[in-house]
Amino acid sequence: MSGILVIYGSETGNTKSAATMMAAVLEGRGLAATVRDVRDTGVDAFSEDFDLFLLGVSTWGAVRDEVTEDFKTFYKDMASVDLSGKNVAVFGSGDEGYENFCKAVDSVQERAREKGAFIALEGLKFNLAPHASSDAIRSWAEQAADFLEKK
Ligand SMILES: Cc1cc2nc3c(=O)[nH]c(=O)nc-3n(C[C@H](O)[C@H](O)[C@H](O)COP(=O)(O)O)c2cc1C
Repeated sequence: MSGILVIYGSETGNTKSAATMMAAVLEGRGLAATVRDVRDTGVDAFSEDFDLFLLGVSTWGAVRDEVTEDFKTFYKDMASVDLSGKNVAVFGSGDEGYENFCKAVDSVQERAREKGAFIALEGLKFNLAPHASSDAIRSWAEQAADFLEKK
């Protein structure tokens, strides 16, 4: 069975809720989804036996430098791993009121690409709490499942 690891960093729980919604969709498709808080894992997770890594990161740009506090160490450490052969996709919450809406999604995706990962799906950005975007979030998770089925 294909395995997916979902790693999220989330300050107020919005990206975390999306991670949970995605895991439910993937499980519904018969795929094994493991969800981890980024505070409980490091980049060594990429050497575990998963077919797809979904990275959830919210954007906090006004007073910090964009990736949510929890995700900073992971993001920094991503610069020193080889991700060739790894399938990665990135999602996260932001606030459409900010000029750099969900910029952390682009930053993490770009770093994954630079380190050799295959970007299985273009990043998913959603506004604030996930319930208003639940169709888009579920559809993105379905596309992740489609990707694995075609592999
Ligand atoms: C101080 C502060 C700075 C923020 N900066 C940004 C930003 O630069 N871009 C953006 O899209 N959202 C920004 N946000 C909005 C958060 O990303 C948004 O509230 C998101 O839903 C938080 O998700 P989380 O609960 O998963 O951390 C900011 C929020 C706060 C309170």
